Amino acid sequence: MNSSVRLACLLFATAALALGQSVYPIANMFKPEATPADSIYNISMLMLAICAAIFLVVGGLLLFTIVRFRGRKTDNSREPVQVYGSNRIEIAWTVIPVLIVIVLSMATARAVVEVQNKRMPPDALKVTVVGHQWWWEIRYPELGIVTANELHVPQSSVAKPAHTLLKLQSADVAHSFWVGQLSGKVDLIPGITNSMWLDPRQTGIYLGNCAEYCGTQHANMLIRVIVDSPADFEKWAAAQKMNASADPQLEAARSKFLSLNCINCHTVSGTAAAGTFGPDLSHLMSRTTLASGMIPNTAENLRAWVKDPQAIKHGNLMPNMQLNPRELDEVVTYLASLK
Ligand code: CUA
Repeated sequence: MNSSVRLACLLFATAALALGQSVYPIANMFKPEATPADSIYNISMLMLAICAAIFLVVGGLLLFTIVRFRGRKTDNSREPVQVYGSNRIEIAWTVIPVLIVIVLSMATARAVVEVQNKRMPPDALKVTVVGHQWWWEIRYPELGIVTANELHVPQSSVAKPAHTLLKLQSADVAHSFWVGQLSGKVDLIPGITNSMWLDPRQTGIYLGNCAEYCGTQHANMLIRVIVDSPADFEKWAAAQKMNASADPQLEAARSKFLSLNCINCHTVSGTAAAGTFGPDLSHLMSRTTLASGMIPNTAENLRAWVKDPQAIKHGNLMPNMQLNPRELDEVVTYLASLK
């Protein structure tokens, strides 16, 4: 995708967000919080510095010429002496830009190689991220955890370095995983496994987007990376590993849910629901948002989503199940219990 198309997409995404229900702050790329993002930040600063220097030289010369050689009343109207060709000047304005381009490409190549070839320690946390139209499937194969849209990773510190290695895949079309404060963009391409690594230094929530146009809800394919302290991460992982809650008081609601077509697409661990087409719901309520970061995960929003997902995220692959009010109550009651 060329840069003008990307810019148009970005403007469109921004406008779509502004018109939509929720507005998210844009992550600050100039505040990197992980090693891969540091490399990109350093390259950007080098490029900006060189470009600023060129701008100052060219702009300064231009300004000087405009002022110094401006038309004056006392000028006679004769044309000034015309100069054709100067080997010295031409060599200078060919050689200097070539040197600048060489410096920039070498520095970029070095940063790319450093990030891409970084050897991951054997204890790196391994996560598989699968892009779907329009949500993110997140699997921790070694921990037996499956979740969606909100990627939990441990904080890395000098005393206790923690690396997360992401395997990036796609279930349908090309997507791109981009959380600007943690790393660069890496595409998720059908049939190919790409990778990316993170070592975030600060705990908190990092916002990201799908950065490759992937269809009508591309702008609402939002990512949250939640960086936990090592202890909090252990706690989160332990809770996610457990089977979905099975409150005996909600037996009727659970039976209703399991009798519906929901289970063809969604998994709830420990039940007959084992679909993999949609997000895993085993610990749905541990996530802070619904619809891939579009709306906060509140009881009200959950109900509105189950009632008619198309009204909230038009074109998404979850159909309106046409539940009657009683079924809707039961399904929402059950889902709300999946902590
Ligand atoms: Cu996925 Cu754009």
